Amino acid sequence: MIDILYRTRQKENLDKDVLNFLSSLNEDVNILSYDILGTQAHCLMLNKIGILTSDELSKILSSLSKIKYESKNKEMIQNLPSKDELFLSEDIHELIESIVIQDIGIDIGGKMHTGRSRNDQVILDVRMKLRDDVINICELIINIIKSLIEKSKEHTNTIISLYTHLQQAQIGTVSHYLLSYSFNLLRDLERLSSSFEKINLSPLGSCAIGGTGIPIDRNYTASLLGFQGLVENSIDATSSRDSMIQYLSFLSILMSTLSRIAEDFILWSTSEFNYIELSDRYSSTSSVMPQKKNPDPLEIIRSRTSIVIGMLISSFSLVKNLPSGYHRDLQDLKPLLSNSATIVKESLLIMKGIIDTFKVNKKNTLHSANKSYGVSLDIAEQIVIKYNIPFRKVHKLIGTLVQHAVKNKNILLSQISKEDVNKILKFTDIQIDLEELMVILKDTTPEKSILFRNSYGSPNPMQQKDMVNSIEKSLLVYCKVLSQRKELLHAALDNLEKEVILNTNVNSEKNNEI
Ligand code: ARG
Repeated sequence: MIDILYRTRQKENLDKDVLNFLSSLNEDVNILSYDILGTQAHCLMLNKIGILTSDELSKILSSLSKIKYESKNKEMIQNLPSKDELFLSEDIHELIESIVIQDIGIDIGGKMHTGRSRNDQVILDVRMKLRDDVINICELIINIIKSLIEKSKEHTNTIISLYTHLQQAQIGTVSHYLLSYSFNLLRDLERLSSSFEKINLSPLGSCAIGGTGIPIDRNYTASLLGFQGLVENSIDATSSRDSMIQYLSFLSILMSTLSRIAEDFILWSTSEFNYIELSDRYSSTSSVMPQKKNPDPLEIIRSRTSIVIGMLISSFSLVKNLPSGYHRDLQDLKPLLSNSATIVKESLLIMKGIIDTFKVNKKNTLHSANKSYGVSLDIAEQIVIKYNIPFRKVHKLIGTLVQHAVKNKNILLSQISKEDVNKILKFTDIQIDLEELMVILKDTTPEKSILFRNSYGSPNPMQQKDMVNSIEKSLLVYCKVLSQRKELLHAALDNLEKEVILNTNVNSEKNNEI
């Protein structure tokens, strides 16, 4: 049976129900490996400043390695010691310390928590997990942007209506649409990437709230763990969570980007639109209606977006009334952070798969755009350019032509007879050549309208080329930043592992000598 570590002041043990209620052990499975790394670094530092002898350090490190090995093998914290013993620990920090003390005795094991508190320990673990999640999520965003670009290259000339108010507006292309979300996701990438800098700072050594009298070396532990600096102020380090809330906001914004794509695709895959077909691998069916092909994965992305936003709101409410200093409330922030990250990673993967595999029904998108009168503005602008007539006057003329076409069984503008165009033209004070107007009406097909419209950022193929270039350029920069960050982290953690091995072996070598 493991001794109850901290409860000297209390005469009685915690009620079992209370312990269950308080305990974060289940959630702590997500930070177990980080907690061990943090403790290894802390103990190496305690050795460096003379609190732990090399022999003591080696015993603690080998005990920690056993826990690491056990937890890797069995995967679940629940299996670490026996269930009964587990019930006595409120969290992973207490559990690990208990196991080490049980393993090597309190005379040595009891030294490992010198100069730190669970308050700096837990936020250290959270920051270490978060920085890995940020890197991982950034990579997933990069992959999805690459998929959007690949898909867009297949559809540079695929005509589709662009919508405002969910009414057909101008003529566009599928690739221009896909690129719009590449830019959006690029901003998501930028936001998340920037949060790394705020997260990758070490709080370790702040102790409970006010630092410690032990001559600890905060910079040494920070560099062992691959942090690029310290959260300087010990109150700030242990009690502020603003960077975590910022990260959750960024995740919520990212999810809302995915949710909007999901919404478009759900709509476009209806039989009424029939613009796209989702791969069978990314659609569900009905238990009763055999004909159904439902876009469930997209619907789940949409609903999970609400859940992530909900977790952001929960985190705000959790923090906003906390007096400064650590409070147990902060424990409940951990699942909000890790569950959000899990949802985001899964959603990015699923959305990438959907983007890679959906098919565009080009005939339908073209047919629908053709019938939409979406070329109206392009016709009007050509007249403006050619005759230098005020746009407002031309707007009226084309509006009247559309009205006439709709009344005549929705014929196309190019199908209005010369006589009718002439009649309508005569009602206006516009002086233009009828023949030339007829040519503009006939020539302005959806395809030509894309070529005519070439303002910066428009669906014109040349503009799209420029967009692809600029997105690809930005991606290269982010890929470089990410791989540098990963390299630095790997190098630091590899070095930590080497130090751990070196300092563990000191003991066994000594034993061998004896
Ligand atoms: N389990 C706690 C958490 O996740 C660890 C910190 C406990 N600190 C304390 N003073 N009770 O936040």
